[in-house]
Parts: sequence; C-alpha cells; structure tokens
Amino acid sequence: MKGLKAVYDGLPAPTQAQGSSRCICASFKKALVVPFIIAAYLVGKHFLSSGPATWPVEFWDEVPTLNLRTNEALCPQSVPLVPEKHGEIWESIGSTYGTEDFVSKAAEYLGGAVRVPTEAFDKMDEVGKDPRWEVFGPFHDYLLKTFPLVHSTLALTKVNTYGLVYKWEGSDASLKPLLLTAHQDTVPVDLTTLGQWAHPPWSGYFDGERVWGRGSSDDKSGLIGILTTLETLISNKWTPTRSVVLAFGFDEEASGLHGASALGKYLEETYGENAFSMLVDEGGGFGEQKGAVIAVPGIGEKGYIDVRVEVTSPGGHSSIPPAHTSIGILASLLVQYEAHPYDVSLDRTTPVYGFLQCLAAHAPDLPASLKKKIRKSLSSNKALKQAEKELFKDPTIKNLAGTTQAIDLIEGGVKTNALPERTWAVVNHRIATESSVDATKAHDTAILKELAAKFNLSYTAFGETLTSGPAYGTLTLSDAWGASLEPAPITPTGPDAAAYQVLSGTIKATYNAHRSLKDDGIVVAPGIMTGNTDTRYYWKLTENIFRYNHHNQGSGKALSGVHTVNESISIDAFIEMIRFFTTLILNVDESKAL
Ligand SMILES: *[C@@H]1O[C@H](CO)[C@@H](O)[C@H](O)[C@H]1NC(C)=O
Ligand SMILES: *[C@@H]1O[C@H](CO)[C@@H](O)[C@H](O)[C@H]1NC(C)=O
Repeated sequence: MKGLKAVYDGLPAPTQAQGSSRCICASFKKALVVPFIIAAYLVGKHFLSSGPATWPVEFWDEVPTLNLRTNEALCPQSVPLVPEKHGEIWESIGSTYGTEDFVSKAAEYLGGAVRVPTEAFDKMDEVGKDPRWEVFGPFHDYLLKTFPLVHSTLALTKVNTYGLVYKWEGSDASLKPLLLTAHQDTVPVDLTTLGQWAHPPWSGYFDGERVWGRGSSDDKSGLIGILTTLETLISNKWTPTRSVVLAFGFDEEASGLHGASALGKYLEETYGENAFSMLVDEGGGFGEQKGAVIAVPGIGEKGYIDVRVEVTSPGGHSSIPPAHTSIGILASLLVQYEAHPYDVSLDRTTPVYGFLQCLAAHAPDLPASLKKKIRKSLSSNKALKQAEKELFKDPTIKNLAGTTQAIDLIEGGVKTNALPERTWAVVNHRIATESSVDATKAHDTAILKELAAKFNLSYTAFGETLTSGPAYGTLTLSDAWGASLEPAPITPTGPDAAAYQVLSGTIKATYNAHRSLKDDGIVVAPGIMTGNTDTRYYWKLTENIFRYNHHNQGSGKALSGVHTVNESISIDAFIEMIRFFTTLILNVDESKAL
C-alpha cells in the first residue's frame, strides 16, 4: 500500500454504488448516434475506475505490477471467447447463418414481427381497462406460430397478461441462469409522417439489404434475435446445462410501468435476489470511433428527477401591480438556475473517465496530445484538469459526465387583467452516475435560497419547510411526478469481473467470426446510458446488468431511424445479432467462472 500512495496520490476514494429505488419515470432513450458521439450516450469505464464498490486491498496490491503506459493497463481487453465444449455446434450453426436460406428466414421472422403493430403510449390505463394493450394478443399469436420449438420446449408464463417470461430449464439447477430481456412494444408512428417513409412503417418490407418499419431496430430486432437463436439451437438438438430465462416487457417506451415493473417483481419472487449470472438487455452497440471499432455495453444509467418550481403570490387587479408578479419571480428563479449549472469535473471513478481511457488506449485517431493528457491523468491531477478542459469543449461529453438541467415546462397566468397567483416550471435533471437524487435536490434547494429571501417567499423544498412566518408569497420545490430514479448500480468490470469478461470475449468472438477475422478487430469499452431501459426494474436480480445490442451502427451515418421516420435495420447487422446471442448462450452455458 505504501509505495502505491505516491503513485496514486490524488485519486479520489471510490464512490459507493448507488442503492436501489423503485421507480417509474420518464423515458428518454438510448439513442444511437455518430462516432465520438456514441460517447455521448454510452461511456465506458475500465478497471481503475470501476471494480467493486470499495476497492479491496488486494486490488491495490496488484496495480503496481501493471505498467500504466501500456494499453493493457489503461483499458484491459479480454481475449475472444470461442465456445470450447460447444465449439462444434457453434461452428456448424454459425456456418448456416451466412446462407441465403437463413437470411431470408430471419428477414421474414423480423418483418412479420414488424407487421404486428405494438405501439405503447404515455399514460396508458391498467391492462384490462385500456383497450390499446390488446394489440399484444396478436403479437403473442405471431410468436407462437413463428417459433414452435421455443413454445414446445420452454415454459411460458404471462405476467400482467402481456409480459412474457420463458424458461429453458438447464440440466444443472445449481448454476445461476442467464437472463435475456427485450421489449415487445415500440414507440408510436406519427401518422402525419406516413408519406415520408421509404417503406410503410408496418410493412416489415425486406429490400434485400434492410428490413423496414417501426420496431425493426428498437427492439423487435433484439426480441426476434433471441427467439430465432433459441429456435435454431433447439432445432439443432442443443440443450442447456445452465437455465436460460427470457423476459419481454410491453411498455418499455412508456417507462415500463405495467410491463417490466411487473416482470421485475415476478422474477424476484420466483428466482430471488441476485439469482441470475448475468442479464443482457437492449442498449449500446458498436461502431467506429476515432479510428477504432468500439463496442460499448452500458454498465450504468444516469439517474433522473423532474423538479417542479412553484411560486404563489397575492392576486389582484393588474392596474395596481406589485413590483414583481409570480411570473416575474419565477423568471428570476429560472435565470438563477441557468446561471448556476451543475459543476462538472472529470472524476476518475466514473464510467465516462474509464471510457476515455479506452479511447486513449485503443483509438488511433484521437489526437496524440489529448491521448497523452488522458493517460497522464491517471496519476497527475494537473493532466486531469487539462484533459477535462479539452474534452468538455464538447458539450455532449460534459453532459454525459455530469448532472444536467433543462427547464422544459412552464405555466402561469390566466388573464391580462388579473395578477397570476400561481406559476410553475419543471426542470428536468439527468443525474450523474456518482451523484444521487438527494444531492440533486440539495443543489437545487440551495441555489434558490437567496432569491426566496429577496422576494420574501416562504420556502418549502421537497417537503421540508426552510423559512416560514409572514411572507409575501411561497416558493415550493417538489419531485414533479414522484418519479425520481437513482443512478443505476454500476456493473462490475475489469479483469476479475467474470460476467464482464464473458460478455467482452463473446463480443469479440462474434465480431471476428462474422467477418472471418484472424486478428482481434474490436475493442470493448464499458459505457453508461443517459436514458433508462426496462433494467431499472431488474437491479436486484443480478449485479451483472449489461445494456447491449450487438448492433453494428456503422461509422456514424446512423441509418437506423430509431424512434422516427424510416426505422430499419440491415439484415447483416441482424444476422450478426443472432450470432452474438448464439455465442453468448453457449459461452455462458459452459463458463465455470459465472
Ligand atoms: C426516408 O427514406 C426515403 C427513401 O430513401 C427518403 O426519400 C426520405 O427523405 C426519408 N425520410 C426521412 C425523414 O429521412
Ligand atoms: C414579507 O411579507 C410579509 C407579508 O406581507 C410582511 O409582513 C413582511 O414584513 C415582509 N418581510 C420583508 C422582509 O419584507
């Protein structure tokens, strides 16, 4: 420990992983975009910045044996993990994936799923009351018809009517099952855009290269990819040693209130806490960034809160107005917000920092001077500040690293001759992975304190009365919909994190096999999501949660149309996803480390 101190002086103490919180909340989403900007949504983390919630002494003891100047130390990579025990079936199934026969079958499976619309809307009523849920009935019929072997081999349980849980029982019940999740629903199609689609949104049209339509990418490709993999494995007479469980929600695009929330409860009751070896849900993909192909599985998610800022003041006739109406006061408060954005610094314990280390280690086109600063920042606070300054010129990186604020709603006033008695705004926050809902509340409460006094307002923040007594009006801060969400617990990564190693090795083996590469062609850099997937309800099921689609996002000219017009997926990318799920299931099945 002693010698270490000199090298690591200045390294902040690792933060405790965030605790869990039940939540419902607004869904913003995993967006998928351009090169460096993938960093915008998904940022990585490596062993120095991750590891267990508190770093054990043994971990530190090992560090000096690593040379921090090598790429291996900055962003260690697993080797490609090719199934051994299941090597033969992996090879033989894999060779069929390139055939014309399989390609047209896969395109038809996915296209058929797109042709059964399954839109989810905000604020839907309970299942059974809101008829819009009924679209999932025909979708289930479609799955039953399309994947007969899955349905005759796996046990199916329906949760809250439309949530699907499939269990493929393994021969060894002592092994923790693998959990694969996806969602059946899609965002709605804006009917005014119908004329702009290259092929109609529910056509599922296959033009020989791409499958078109709503859900073709998000997330029917994941769901159909998983089921296609299982159907193929079963038809090849493969049987699992380790159980495989599938869970498919039906309102991920509307915060999972009815789907994943019920599935999470069911899975916890049925299997218990920490019962799964790992969980793979939709999330980041892979693509070219700064000259390297980088896969970015999400190992965390930012937190979330909408803060409602409400001002009340006496009403009256506007011909004899006070100096400040509630609207004027609220305006001052909002100006104060924007004048005091959250401090963001590059923190060595965060996923963002780890991702940057991977970029510095493996991306040839990152400018050499920046690379050097990022590398040096491991042990030099000065270099850390320099790197931060340069990197934060890109607002997307800064936004990813810190807690953000955006004033998104405002209302006040009813008539031009009446003073507004009540005015409010809502400020949306995405909470940094190392922060918390409470820290965000405390920050907001503090920045408005002075103005509350200046305008003579009694101040209540999140249920706590801060100033009372006679006042001109009131200022109240609250959690707008009672739907705040803590940042997700960070999934362990690094050389000792078995699940992360199996996932990384699987990504590499898949990528290489799909391209018949001899050399290792892809780097894995763990990332975070700014939005939330269904996994927010699954935190207790396993500490190894990965948000990852093995989806080739190309070099940035994102064609995917996710959440908008022209959603589509290249058939080659879809086949590669199937290859990934196949490799993952076989690798996890034979892994002794999990
Ligand atoms: C959708 O694709 C069609 C055909 O390529 C193109 O003409 C159209 O502009 C695209 N629409 C949008 C909104 O990008
Ligand atoms: C605040 O307003 C109340 C009610 O009008 C008044 O009694 C009090 O004197 C005011 N305080 C200040 C500091 O202006």
